[in-house]
Amino acid sequence: MKGRTILVTGGSRGLGRQIVERLAAENTVIAISRSGEGVTADSVVNLPCDLTDPAGLAACVDEACRRWPEINVLINNAAVLASRPIVMMSDADIMHQVETNLLAPMLLTKRVLRTMMRRRWGRIVNIVSMSAKLCKPGDSVYAATKAGLEVFGKIVNVEAHSYGVTVNNLAISASPSGMLEQIVHDNSDKIRTLIPHGRLADLDGIMAGIEFFCAEGSADIGGQTVFLGGV
Ligand SMILES: NC(=O)c1ccc[n+]([C@@H]2O[C@H](COP(=O)([O-])OP(=O)(O)OC[C@H]3O[C@@H](n4cnc5c(N)ncnc54)[C@H](OP(=O)(O)O)[C@@H]3O)[C@@H](O)[C@H]2O)c1
Repeated sequence: MKGRTILVTGGSRGLGRQIVERLAAENTVIAISRSGEGVTADSVVNLPCDLTDPAGLAACVDEACRRWPEINVLINNAAVLASRPIVMMSDADIMHQVETNLLAPMLLTKRVLRTMMRRRWGRIVNIVSMSAKLCKPGDSVYAATKAGLEVFGKIVNVEAHSYGVTVNNLAISASPSGMLEQIVHDNSDKIRTLIPHGRLADLDGIMAGIEFFCAEGSADIGGQTVFLGGV
């Protein structure tokens, strides 16, 4: 991907930060996170915003769309995970996951999609998860938010495709970053056994998925989900 203006959520650390670093070489990247930290480069702007605050989200994203009306790629990456059986999960953890992983990308997509539809070109990639297929105990809320985001993306694609905008989902198996470390600490073997080829997703594979959905010739690829790791 070259010469695009790309909005990435969760760009301060983990996979989001690595994605921003790769994309920044040949694109302009606007990265959103609560801390507003992230990659330092002339082509990257880091915006602080708590995406669970709907008013703050609206102000930040509307301002970004005014400053960069040419935003033509959106990567909905920011998410949080609290893995615990539902009867032991606090209401606050349930709400925080739904607000961050599902409600925020909905509110954000609505805003960015308007500018993309006006310009008749756009690519939206939702970062989802194998958890929705695996149905492991503890993941009920997290997996439900990811499954919800996936279906949201498919339906928005139907609404947007005739305007030159596609929405697709990239399902990460497991990758050595914040969220994985939070669950398995330094014992990633537990997760490897769930993946047919036994390897974690690497940045090259994740970028290949993003590039596939955003490539020049990708206009006909919409409403799809690619599961990394063959899960
Ligand atoms: N790592 C894995 O094994 C794995 C597996 C399957 C799917 N995924 C998916 O891949 C994506 C990235 O995961 P990761 O492991 O890189 O996670 P991570 O290291 O925990 O990073 C999460 C990012 O989201 C941002 N964020 C969290 N809450 C936010 C909020 N309210 N407002 C704005 N930004 C917020 C964080 O920045 P601040 O703290 O600065 O706000 C951070 O940049 C997620 O969608 C995750 O569900 C990961």
